[in-house]
Amino acid sequence: MKKIMPLLCSFLLCAQFLLSQTFEDPNRPLIHFTPKEHWMNDPNGMVFYNGVYHLFFQYYPGASVWGPMHWGHATSKDLVNWEEQPIALYPDKLGYIFSGSAVVDKNNTSGFGSTKKPPLVAIFTQHDTAGERAHTKTFQNQSIAYSTNGGKTWVKYKNNPVLKNPGDEDFRDPKVMWYADGNEWMMTLAVKDHVEFYSSPNLKDWTKQGEFGKGIGAHGGVWECPDLISFDDNGKKVWVLIVSINPGGPNGGSATQYFVGNFDGKTFTPFNDKIKWIDYGPDDYAGVTWSNTDDRKIFLGWMSNWAYGQLVPTSAWRSAMTIPRNLNLVHVGDEIYVTSKPVVELNVLTGKAQAIPNLIVYKKYDLTPDLVNAPRSFKLDFTVKDAKSFAVKLSNEKNERLLVGYNEAKKEFYINRGATGNADFQQDFAKERSAPRISTAENIHTTLVADASSVELFADDGLTVMTEIFFPTSPFDLIQLTSDEPVTINNLIYSPLKPMKK
Ligand code: FRU
Repeated sequence: MKKIMPLLCSFLLCAQFLLSQTFEDPNRPLIHFTPKEHWMNDPNGMVFYNGVYHLFFQYYPGASVWGPMHWGHATSKDLVNWEEQPIALYPDKLGYIFSGSAVVDKNNTSGFGSTKKPPLVAIFTQHDTAGERAHTKTFQNQSIAYSTNGGKTWVKYKNNPVLKNPGDEDFRDPKVMWYADGNEWMMTLAVKDHVEFYSSPNLKDWTKQGEFGKGIGAHGGVWECPDLISFDDNGKKVWVLIVSINPGGPNGGSATQYFVGNFDGKTFTPFNDKIKWIDYGPDDYAGVTWSNTDDRKIFLGWMSNWAYGQLVPTSAWRSAMTIPRNLNLVHVGDEIYVTSKPVVELNVLTGKAQAIPNLIVYKKYDLTPDLVNAPRSFKLDFTVKDAKSFAVKLSNEKNERLLVGYNEAKKEFYINRGATGNADFQQDFAKERSAPRISTAENIHTTLVADASSVELFADDGLTVMTEIFFPTSPFDLIQLTSDEPVTINNLIYSPLKPMKK
C-alpha cells in the first residue's frame, strides 16, 4: 500500500491536471479578471496601497450562483495581471458580507495601526438573513474591518456594526473617501431610491449629513453601489456621483448612471437633471473607483447583469470584471460628461500591433488575413471619417456572429448579439442594443476591447461606452469591417492582447 499511494497520488494529480486542461472553458476571459471558480458579483474594497491594486469582490465559494456573500480577493501590480488571493472576509453572526469599500487610514484616525504603518480599513454592509426573514427592516448595517499587513488578512472590529439601520430595508454599499474640505471621512450609502451622506472623524462613529436623489435621475429600480468622486475641471472642483440601479438600465436590467454637480459636505447638487450613463451596455454593473490613486480615477464594474447573471452558460466560474477604465471629464456644449477609456496599462498585454493607415470599407473588409494568428483577445483602434455607418463583425465558421457598429441615420452606436451562439438561457439576451452618440466631432475615434466572451466599445474617446457579453459555441476568430456605403477608416491599429499571467 505504501508503494502504491505515491503512484496513485501522482496519477490523480495528473488526471486532475489533464481534466482542467481539457475542460478549460473556451469562453473564459483571458484579459479580464474571473475567479478560478464559483460565483462573483460586485467589485468591492478597491484600494491602491504600496504599489498593489487590491480588488475584493462579492464572492460565494460554495457554488456558481449567488449565496452567502464573502469578500473574495485579488491583487495586481499593473491593473491587468491579477492574482487571486485567499478569501478576505467571511460571513459571521451579523450576516453576509455585502458590498463596500476600503481606504488607507493615513493619519490612523481609527487607531487600528499607526501613522508609520497606516491600517487599511474596509467598510461594508452586513446583511442578516434571519432579520430579513423576520421582516425587521433593519437587517442591513454597516461594519468595518482592518488590516495591518497591507490587505493580506483582516480583523473585524469588535464593536460592529458601526452604522445601524434606522429602519430602511435597503441600506447598503458604503463607499468611503477622505473629504479634505471637511477634514473628515465621508460615506455615500445607497438607501432604496436615494443616497445618504454620513461623516466620521475615525471611521467608527458616523453622523448623517444629508441625502440626494429622490425624484432625480433614473428610478426604474433600487439604487445600489454609489461612489462620489471629484475632478479638477480647468481649476474648478467638479463632483461626480455614480449610482448603479437595478433594474431600470437604458438597455434593460442593471446599469450605472451618474450625476455631475457640486458637493458641500452635506448634500449633492447636480448641475441639471439630465440622466447620464457610465456605460449603455447591459454588462457593466456596480462599478466604482479605486481609492488612494490621487487624481487618477480608475473604475471597474461587474461584467454581467442581474437579469441573467446567474444563468449564463459557464459553470466552473461565473462572471468577470470589466477592463479597468480611466475616468475623465469632458465638455460637450453646455454639458459635462464622464468619459471612460481602458487604462493604458492594457499595453502590458499587447503583442505585435499591426497598423492599416487608410482603408476604404465597402460591403466588407476581412481583417483576418492581415492578422498574424487572430487571438481570442485583442484591441482595435480606428477612426471613422465623417461619422458614417460602420460595423465590426466578429464571427466563427458556424456563422455565429456579433456586430458592433454605428448607425449614422439614427446617430446611435449598437451591439447586436442576436446570433452569438448560446443564448437561450434568458429570453431577452439575444438582441440588439443601442446607445446615443453624444459627441459632435466630425470623425468617430473608436476603441474596441474584445475577449473570448465580451466586447467593450469605447466610442468617441469614451463618451459613449457599451459593454456586452456573449457565448459562442466555438471561438470568434474572424474579424471583419462592414458598411453598406463606402466608408473611410483611418489609423486602424490592431493589437493582439496576451492572456494575463495567473
Ligand atoms: C449589487 C448588490 C449590492 C449588494 C450586493 C450583494 O449588485 O445587490 O447592492 O451589496 O450586490 O451581493
